Amino acid sequence: MAHVNEHYFKLKAGYLFPEIARRVNSYCDSNPDADVIRLGIGDVTEPLPPAIVSAMHQAVDEMAQRSSFRGYGPEQGYDFLRNAIVEHDYQSRGIDIAADEIFVSDGSKCDSGNILDIFGPHNVVAITDPVYPVYVDTNVMAGRTGEADESGRFAGLVYLPIGAENGFTPDLPETPVDLIYLCYPNNPTGTVLTREHLQQWVAYAQQNDALILYDAAYEAYISEADVPHSIYELDGAREVAIEFRSFSKNAGFTGTRCAFTVVPKSLTGSREAGQRESIHALWNRRQSTKFNGVSYVIQQGAAAAYSDEGKQQIQELVAFYMTNARLLREGLEAVGIQVYGGVNAPYVWLKTPGEQSSWDFFDQLLEQSHLVGTPGSGFGASGEGYFRLSAFNSRENIEQAVKRFQSLVS
Ligand code: MLT
Repeated sequence: MAHVNEHYFKLKAGYLFPEIARRVNSYCDSNPDADVIRLGIGDVTEPLPPAIVSAMHQAVDEMAQRSSFRGYGPEQGYDFLRNAIVEHDYQSRGIDIAADEIFVSDGSKCDSGNILDIFGPHNVVAITDPVYPVYVDTNVMAGRTGEADESGRFAGLVYLPIGAENGFTPDLPETPVDLIYLCYPNNPTGTVLTREHLQQWVAYAQQNDALILYDAAYEAYISEADVPHSIYELDGAREVAIEFRSFSKNAGFTGTRCAFTVVPKSLTGSREAGQRESIHALWNRRQSTKFNGVSYVIQQGAAAAYSDEGKQQIQELVAFYMTNARLLREGLEAVGIQVYGGVNAPYVWLKTPGEQSSWDFFDQLLEQSHLVGTPGSGFGASGEGYFRLSAFNSRENIEQAVKRFQSLVS
């Protein structure tokens, strides 16, 4: 008899974004004439930058010739991309990261789930609330939690509420934790941590022998000076943090798929008997066993993101989406809605008008304005009463969405 993983039955029936898509599709099926604008999932809408497209074309041509054809690549990524990442994302900021500490992958979502393979079942995990649901669900699947309570919080996880009352800054945990997920710029709230706050987390991890899983997928959207782009800008972080980065949101790779995870060789974890082991060696072992690397063509495209032309085009893309975020923020504020985020991140986080529940507001917005967003409670109990809008869309749709929002609320 084949036994299934019992832990899956602790999860909510569907993952948040497919569940929203299911509800929206069902609404569209019954209302085929509704012109629905989707600001739910943070999926990019603009085409790949030309410098990237041209590098991919060239790579395809190489694959078409026997002399330049390539089969399996290195599981950790090609050196040309690892070196470009180190030079442009780390050395340029004075950060000490080596090329063999970069693991190129097909996504930060996958990596943030897969990384759990190398950690023991008894680690106590801390997450912010609200939070990117992948961190929670993958720990549930791995059996690191008990059942969920009525509010959806799982026994065994340490929840760190972030909301307007604490400036969206998580307090250090009151009970000891081993693994801490931090996502900054934050998904879903669009808020950031200052250097001082992040340094407190690094110090906590140092003092408590904890490890920080730092998701910096939205780093390109940082516009303010005092916001760290990488956790390794902070003293001591090389000893306590893994960083996830992605080409999805800056270079438009949500469909193309390329990301990377930084695992410093100075990171160690403890075995049950107490001896220290290299996290880098474990992740390398895991990746070379279970992963065959990202395709050559895609890695050449990602490397072009670091060319002068590529950088310029990405900056323009980021500026485009951030203008959308500003239009959303200003448009909502103009009708008295309380908004957060949207300054260093492509997400605007708002208080639902009239204190409606997040899902009630989702229904109202869909049915009356044909707008889709993401209910804050879908990201955790502390997201109740909030709602997330993504700035990834065409300008026309954003302007239209603002008008519809304003006429719904005023
Ligand atoms: C989101 O909408 O939160 C993200 O697009 C999901 C993701 O990046 O996986």
